[in-house]
Amino acid sequence: MAFGLGLAAMAAEPQAQPAPGQLERGRYLVEIVGHCANCHASRGPDGAPLPGRGLAGGWVIEEGPMRAVVPNITPDRETGIGNWTEAQIIRAIREGKRPDGSNIGWPMPIDFYSRISDADVAAMAAYLRTVPPVRNAVQGRSTYPFPVPAHPAVANVPPPADNPVARGAYLAGPIAHCLDCHSGRGPDMRLIPGREGAQGLSFTGPWGTVVARNLTPSTTTGIGNWTLAQFTRALREEIGADGRPLMPPMGRGRVWAAMTDQDIADLFAYFRSLPPLD
Ligand code: HEC
Ligand code: HEC
Repeated sequence: MAFGLGLAAMAAEPQAQPAPGQLERGRYLVEIVGHCANCHASRGPDGAPLPGRGLAGGWVIEEGPMRAVVPNITPDRETGIGNWTEAQIIRAIREGKRPDGSNIGWPMPIDFYSRISDADVAAMAAYLRTVPPVRNAVQGRSTYPFPVPAHPAVANVPPPADNPVARGAYLAGPIAHCLDCHSGRGPDMRLIPGREGAQGLSFTGPWGTVVARNLTPSTTTGIGNWTLAQFTRALREEIGADGRPLMPPMGRGRVWAAMTDQDIADLFAYFRSLPPLD
């Protein structure tokens, strides 16, 4: 196998120094493309993320009978994950399993994260251990009206480097979970196979109600007539095709301004390769 650090290597050498470029890759995945802060940031009374507390947790997300309290994932030993090993952090992200054996629940997108490659999840875990610890004891625990499902480990193969559509699919799914919001779901909130990229979730806030738009190449309701420049503007500048600023959770303080040209082009190639759906 030609790719990065495997899990076996991680477990055998927990004290190993990060490989060159590993922390930079981890930072890019956690802070930029994956933007874990979209959920894991501490927020002020107006709902705005607090500076310097992007991973310190405490936000409460409610949907019907579900109430998720987002944890502090900075390396503070008492209120964060400072006592977790890299292998334990990796297992939490990909399999949704905490060191105490409990399962991590909605809306942590484990369905998508389970397919993050070995090298990328190792980079994320290594980076998470280097961020400044923030002391923030989150209040209360998540409550779900059903047992929180387990996510067994799956094969974690990075996309082939010479295939933009496959690389874009990897970014849109496992890394940035665009498909989490931008896909069709049934009444039970499960993703409907074959409706990837078709219009998805709606979000209501002080900004009104916005709907995650159809990203398939339909020329009427999707991005069939879009140029790469328009798609880039939506991600980097958070301006929609109609010139309107995009609202949360898509509007996220322009963190994706730092996404690489190649990653944006790969995402565009992937969404344009989907069957057009209305
Ligand atoms: C859509 C919201 C969302 C996103 C995005 C998200 N998380 Fe989470 N995460 C959660 C919630 C909610 C929980 C707790 C669920 C529960 O209580 O069972 C959680 C739990 C965790 C835990 C377990 C911590 C603990 O103390 O139990 C880790 C580790 C974690 N997330 C890491 C990440 C990383 C790394 C990313 C980015 C790659 C990320 N999360 C992105 C919502 C999110
Ligand atoms: C947490 C949910 C969420 C995630 C994750 C998400 N989006 Fe969105 N997206 C939305 C919502 C909601 C809107 C509509 C915002 C509005 O109308 O103001 C939107 C709008 C858009 C638009 C529309 C611009 C327009 O002109 O209408 C594009 C393009 C887009 N998203 C691409 C992406 C890509 C690519 C990703 C992954 C890198 C992604 N989104 C991840 C929720 C999400």
